[in-house]
This record gives sequence, C-alpha cells and structure tokens, in this order.
Amino acid sequence: MKKDITLIVIVFFIIFTSCTTDSKRYKIGISQCSDDIWREKQNAELRMGAYFHDNVELRFAAAYDSDERQVQQIDSLVSTGIDLLIVAPNQMATITPAIDRVFDKGIPVIVFERKTSSQKYTAFISADNYEMGRVMGEYIAGRLHGKGRVLEVMGLKGSSPAIERHNGFADAMKNYPGIEFVATLQGDWTEESAVKAIHDYQGDLSKIDFVFGQNDRMAMGARKALASASTKYCGIDGLPGDNGGIRLVRDSILDATYIYPTHGDQLLQMAVNILDDKPYKKEVMLMSALVTKENANVLLMQNEEIVKQSEYLDKLHNRADSYLQRLATQRVVMLMAVALIALLLLVAVMQYRHQIQKLRMHEERTRMEREQLDFYTQAAHELRTPLTLIEAPLDQLAQTASIQQADDRTNELFSIIRRNTANLSSLVNKILDVQTGMSPQELAPVQTDEMATLQIKAEQSKETFSLETSGADVPTLLIVDDNADIRTLLKTILQPYYQLLEASDGQEGLRIANEQVPDLIVSDVMMPVMNGLEFCQQIKTDFVTSHIPVILLTARALNKHQIEGYESGADAYITKPFQADLLLVRINNLLKSRLQLRQLWSSNEQKEDKAEIPKNEVKEDAFILRFKAVVEEKMSDSDLSIEDIGAEMNLSRVQLYRKVKALTGCSPVDLLRKARLSEAQQMLMNSDLSVSEIAYKVGFASPSYFTKCFKEEYGKVPGEVRK
Ligand code: FRU
Repeated sequence: MKKDITLIVIVFFIIFTSCTTDSKRYKIGISQCSDDIWREKQNAELRMGAYFHDNVELRFAAAYDSDERQVQQIDSLVSTGIDLLIVAPNQMATITPAIDRVFDKGIPVIVFERKTSSQKYTAFISADNYEMGRVMGEYIAGRLHGKGRVLEVMGLKGSSPAIERHNGFADAMKNYPGIEFVATLQGDWTEESAVKAIHDYQGDLSKIDFVFGQNDRMAMGARKALASASTKYCGIDGLPGDNGGIRLVRDSILDATYIYPTHGDQLLQMAVNILDDKPYKKEVMLMSALVTKENANVLLMQNEEIVKQSEYLDKLHNRADSYLQRLATQRVVMLMAVALIALLLLVAVMQYRHQIQKLRMHEERTRMEREQLDFYTQAAHELRTPLTLIEAPLDQLAQTASIQQADDRTNELFSIIRRNTANLSSLVNKILDVQTGMSPQELAPVQTDEMATLQIKAEQSKETFSLETSGADVPTLLIVDDNADIRTLLKTILQPYYQLLEASDGQEGLRIANEQVPDLIVSDVMMPVMNGLEFCQQIKTDFVTSHIPVILLTARALNKHQIEGYESGADAYITKPFQADLLLVRINNLLKSRLQLRQLWSSNEQKEDKAEIPKNEVKEDAFILRFKAVVEEKMSDSDLSIEDIGAEMNLSRVQLYRKVKALTGCSPVDLLRKARLSEAQQMLMNSDLSVSEIAYKVGFASPSYFTKCFKEEYGKVPGEVRK
C-alpha cells in the first residue's frame, strides 16, 4: 500500500514539474533612460532579436529621463535575478555607481549609446557622437558657403552624446571664421526643452540661418519657437516612420538629419554571445549616415520594406508562438491523461490484488475447513470402529443363556459396561457435533428416533425371517471391510442365517462379487485400494452384479456422507457403531423386496403386464429378454447347454446361474425348459404338427420325456391341449 502511494506521488510530481519548468535560461534586463520613438524602435528590435533565441527572456524598464528612477530600476532588475544588464545611462555621473554595483556582482553589463564614467562594463556599443556633431557642422558650413549665423541646441547636460556632439560641432565651426556661432542653448533631448531654451534666451536670435538641434525633436522645438521662414534646421536621429526625421527631411521641414542607429538586434546578439561565452568585441562603433533631401526618399522606401519584413517576421513568430502554446497545452493534457491512466491502472491493479488476496484467503479457509472435517471424520471413524467392536459383541453376549441366567452381581457389572459403552458412543457423537457444528440429527438420525421402532420390527421379523430362509436356498452375503475384527463381528452376527463371502477392500470385493454373484453386499466406506463408494458404483454399473443390493456400513455419519453413499447407488446406509438387530432387519427387508420383485416378474411374465414393474428393474428385465432371445434362437437344438447360453452372453456358468436365479427364482435349466414347453404349447394350438414333431422342434430328445415335462408344467398331457 505504502509503495503504491509513493508511486502515485512520484507520477504527479513528474507531471507537475514537467508542466511548470521554465525553459528560458537567460534573463536579460534592459534599463532605458527614457521613453520615446527612438527607444521604442530599439526595444522592438531587441524583442525581434529575442525571437531567434528560445532561451532568452527580456525584462524592460524605462526611467523617463529620471536619474533616481533609473538607479532604482537597475537595482530592482538585479534583484529579480537577471543574468545580464543592458543599460543606457541617463547622465554619466549619476548612474555610474549603480552600474558599477551590477558589474561588481559579476553580472555582465553592456552599456549602449550613452557612456558611463567608469570602466566597469563588459562591452560598449554606440555610434560616434563626436563624428556626428562634426559632420553636421561641416554640412551646415557647406550649406552656408562659410557665412552666416548658427545656433546649437544641446541635449541633456550630463549625458555623453550631448557633450560629444557639441565638441564635434564646435570643432567643425572653428574651421569657418565667416560663420558666427551665436550660442549653444541647453535642452534635455525633448522638444519642449528646446522651445523653452529659445524663449528663455536673452541674446539676439534674429537672422539665424541654421539651427543645429542635437536631435530631431529639439530641432523641431527650435523651429516652433523661432518661427522664422528663412531659418534652416538640422537634427540627429533620422528615424523612419510618420514622425521620424527622414520624412521631415523629405518634406523639407528639416534640412538634414543624421541617422543615430538603434540596432537592437545587434545588441541582443552581443548579449547572448557574452552569456554563451562566445567571442565579442568590447567596444563597437556603429556605422551611420547623413540624410538630406537627396537620399531621404530612398531611405524611406527601404525602411518601408524593412518594416514589412519585420511585420511578416512578427506574424510568423506569433503563429509559431501560438503553435508552441497549443503544443504546451496539449502536452499538459496528454501528461494529465497519462497520469490518469496510470492512476486508473494502479487502482485496477490494487483492486485486482485485493480480490486475489480475498480469493486466496477464502480458498485457504475452505481448505482448512475441509481438512478439519476430514480430520474429525477420520477421528470418529477411528473411535467408532473399536466402539462397534465392543458394543455389538456385548449385544450378542447379552442374548446368550449364560448371561441371561447369571447372578445379580454379574448382571450389574454387565449393565455398567453396556451403559458406559453407550455413553462413550454418544460422547464421540457430541465431539463431532461440536467440532463440525452439525446438529445431532445430521449425525446419525437412524440411530436416535427410528431406533426403537426398528428394533421392535427386527424382533418381530427375526422369526419369520428364519422361517423364510430355512426351507429355501440359503442366501449368500458378501462382507467387504478392511478391519478384520469388524469382519469377524459381522460373521458372528450373520453366520446363523447366511452363507458368507469376505473381502478386505473394494477391489477384492468387486472380483468376488463378479465371480460369485452374491444375493447382498455389506460394505465399509473408508478402505484402502478402493473405497466403498467407488466399489458400490462399480457393482451397480456391472451387468453381472447390478441387481445386488448394497448396504454401506460406515462411521461417516454426516448427512452429506449419507447423500454421497446413496448417490453411489447404495440401497441402505447404516452408521457405526451399529446394532446387530438393525443390520439383520435391513438385510432381511432388502432380500424380501428382491424376492417380491422376482415374483412380480414371474407373474408379469404370465400377465404380460409390464406397467407395474418398478423402473430400476428395467435393466434386469433387459437381461432376461436377452436370455430369452438366445434360448428362442437355439431352442430346436436338443444339445443346447447352459454353458452355450452363458458363452453367448459372455457369462460364466456361476454368473449366469446366480443372475437368472436372483432375477427369476428359477435356474437357467428350468427357464430353458419352461421356454421350450411354452413354445410347444403354442405349436400344439396353432399347427397340425404331431406331438413328436413338436417335441423335437422345441429341442426335446425324446417325445416321452417331453410329455412328462409338459404334464408337470401345465397339469395336462399335450394331447389334451390339442383337443
Ligand atoms: C533618445 C535620444 C535621442 C538622442 C539620444 C541621445 O532617447 O534622446 O533623441 O539622439 O537619445 O542619447
């Protein structure tokens, strides 16, 4: 049971863990200093890049231009357990300590686009901001042919691109003395900051020819604030899309812009390389380009193509994602189903085992009960046999003259012995009763209530019985018992009335019964070699012995044993210890009923009325019919002997004699003669043949002997019948 429960727990644990396991190995934190269309584009590219790496999870944070917020966000990204940090620090000085902390923890850091003031980073990726400022300066100078008034609006003070772009621009301006660098106003990368800076400016802002906004948003802010038709504006970022710098240049709203590359996909690849321990470049400079009215349209078209491609990629990814999700759901459902099936199987197996166990226990119990019953039956048998051998001889002794005429003291002692033998016998019954749970009635009914009646009947019948047997042939009885004492006892009881045959087991009994065909058999049940039940069954099925009544005399006193006995074909069942009188009266009755049947048969022969013949006599009747058929066939043969008929029927002389005698009361010779005479009588009445001819025809060797026999049988001479 414990084992089964453990198994269930394991199965569920496996399923549960397999359903919840997070397959993403890398968590990458992205800390953006602000949130605008440039950052959005970059984040989108990062996400797209992650599509190619199943094991990457991105966690974004945007600080909305606040140093404080960005520091907090970096710390909390680390606390969620990121494996790598990508960061664009809002201002160098303020964010650097937070970045250092991450790096010191052993977490790789990629600084991108804006610099940190320490060396604690794993890689740096950016475009060249100084170069951008310088190129813009050269471009403007070119556009102004070295003459004019120029204004710069700068990005957030402490951020590296603002400083570098300014340095590049200022250096370029130095080359053009004809150009007046009016001022550098301070913005913070937003459009509003440029508007405000111009409004706040105290100096002369009339006739400005060119404004360099350090990004496109601020260039647009300056354009809004100055509202001068003759002024031209340049910016940086050069984003595609509706509000991007490229379109503004194409539509002549801005004069030029410079593409500030986002390259989120490249950034992600670098991160994965670092995490996978693959080679990477520590400092990466991204290439970039100036956008003017000449190339703006081409760039926009190219970008549209890129957007389409990435939308397509996005769709593909979403579809793959939904497939994967469906697959995952199916996997969970399948695992659940498997678990359920496993569970059901387990329950079935447990149930099956339980049933088997129950069945085994039941079998074991029945076996033990059977063994117990066998034991007590055996024990009772062992006790009953010697008890029988004491009780019955005592009964015999009681009837002898010497005991009947003995003095009082002897009588007293004798009755003590008899009483206590009876007590012992009833105790044996009681023990068996207690141990088997049988009621006394079930044990030996014939020895309780019926006893008295039967005994009276026995007394009455004894006289008539001796009369019946005295004149006629003495019936032959076969005693079958493995106990020699029992056989001796039976002999002392039966010898005065019957001729006796003996056998010590069923097999020997069968042989003797077949050879001698006795008139009745008394047999024990529990015997070696062949027990009484099988013996009885064989007696009843053998053609030669089937008519012989069988009495089973046994210690097996239970009802079910008696039923077994009768089922084997027994005619009577007497339990040990038995009363001699009871046995005698049983034997006498059975022999008498045989005799009655015999008479019934012979009278039937005359009446031709077979309706009254009991069913169990049909077999014997068939035997006689066969006998008659053989006789009729060979009748005219005056040399026909009983041996010839026996040979024809496969029977010995003794078997034939005793079988015929038992069934008809006549000897086979008598029966043969009767058949011949009956045939002759028919001929006398129905033919013109002479008496002598008829005598020869029915097998008489001499007509005078025929006449003599005919007279004896019918009380008339043949001639009288003819008349
Ligand atoms: C976006 C942005 C860009 C600018 C860059 C400088 O957040 O303000 O417009 O070029 O950052 O770091």
